[in-house]
Amino acid sequence: MTTKRSSRAVAKSATSLRPHVLVLHGPNLNLLGSREPRHYGLATLEDINLALTRLGEAAGAHVETFQNNHEGALIDRIHQAALDHVDFIVINPAGYTHSSVALRDALAGTAIPFVEVHLSNIYAREDFRHHSYFSDLAVGVISGLGAHGYELALEFALRHLQNRTSHGSQKTEKAH
Ligand code: DQA
Repeated sequence: MTTKRSSRAVAKSATSLRPHVLVLHGPNLNLLGSREPRHYGLATLEDINLALTRLGEAAGAHVETFQNNHEGALIDRIHQAALDHVDFIVINPAGYTHSSVALRDALAGTAIPFVEVHLSNIYAREDFRHHSYFSDLAVGVISGLGAHGYELALEFALRHLQNRTSHGSQKTEKAH
C-alpha cells in the first residue's frame, strides 16, 4: 500500500529534487515593523521575507512566502502547497495559533511537515497564548527569538530536506 507521504515523495522525485519551502504568515503580521514593537520587534514582513528568500537562494532552494489575514485563504494556500509538492512549511499562525482547529486540520490533512514560529515568547505572555493548536503536530516550535526565529526554522527545514535527498526518504516527520 502506498502512503500519502510516499506517493508525494514519488511525485516529487519525478519533478525536481530542489527543496521547496513555503513560509506562511497569519493575521496582522503584515503590520510588523509598527505593530507592538516590544513584542514583535522592528523588522517588517518585507525584511523578513527578503532575508528568507535570500537564504533559500543561497542554498539552492525554492522559498515562497505568503501572508493573509483570513483563515480560509491560509487553508487554501496549504491545500495548494500539497498540490505543488511543497516539502516543508514554516508557519507563524499568529492569532490563529490559539483558536484555529480548521488551520490545524489543513496541516494535518496535507501532512506536510512544518515548524511553528512565533516572534514573541508566547509562554511569557497572557495565559490564552500558552495553548497552541499546532505544536503537537509540528516537527518543532521556535518562540521568542524574534525575526531570527524564521531564519533558524528555514535553516532547519533545508538541513532536514538535505538529509532526505542524501539518505533517501526520511522518517523523522510526525505521523499525523
Ligand atoms: C505571534 C504570537 C501570537 O500570540 C499573536 O497573536 C501574534 C503573533 C508571534 O509571532 O509572537 O499575532 O504568533
